[in-house]
Amino acid sequence: MDVVLEKRQVQRAYELYAPIYDFIFDWIFAPGRAAAIARLGLQPADRVLEVGIGTGLNLPLYPPAVHLTGIDLSQEMLDKAVERVQTLTMPSVTLKVMDATSMDFGENEFDKAVATYVISAVPDPVSVLREMRRVVRPGGTIVILNHFRSERRVFGHVEDLVAPVCTRLGWKSNLAMTPLLTRVGLTPELIVKVNLFNGWRLVQCINRK
Ligand SMILES: C[S@@+](CC[C@H](N)C(=O)[O-])C[C@H]1O[C@@H](n2cnc3c(N)ncnc32)[C@H](O)[C@@H]1O
Repeated sequence: MDVVLEKRQVQRAYELYAPIYDFIFDWIFAPGRAAAIARLGLQPADRVLEVGIGTGLNLPLYPPAVHLTGIDLSQEMLDKAVERVQTLTMPSVTLKVMDATSMDFGENEFDKAVATYVISAVPDPVSVLREMRRVVRPGGTIVILNHFRSERRVFGHVEDLVAPVCTRLGWKSNLAMTPLLTRVGLTPELIVKVNLFNGWRLVQCINRK
């Protein structure tokens, strides 16, 4: 049976994860984070969107004066990000509770957008990526860091088997990368395997539209 990830389920999951999220997700996923933010190739005037910013674990990786907007569905996760912005003294960071499947931003408002460990944690990844394409200007950069379904048969099969359990915990273990990117019209310029066992993929795209 296919178990569907729902928006309310995601909100409930991250309300519970928020107090412990950084203990679990900081060090294991740190190499991928550093590589993802570096791949944005940030310039001083860039307007940057971080989708599903969570507790803001990526914030220390940006230059302090970055023009960054971070959105997340979970108020509890965002509260942690607010504390981090204050601690790091980042005057040009704006944080908003917002559903990434229907963003309150105009077309081409950003030069660059990034989503780390988010795309398999959202109920509707196609809509999120389409929205990222809409709000990033033509020629802008979109960086995605995510675990996708393995292309190796045995691993892919195991990921299919554990998918119902993972979905109940708030993420999809078997999201296939190529069909997803094709569906939203994104062609990767670069794909790098990162983190423990090279189990996550860093995908850098130019927004051609
Ligand atoms: C695994 S966490 C990743 C957080 C952060 N990007 C990081 O690298 O640590 C996934 C985040 O995506 C958020 N999220 C899930 N669905 C969303 C949606 N539709 N719109 C915005 N944020 C969403 C969750 O609330 C959660 O904070």
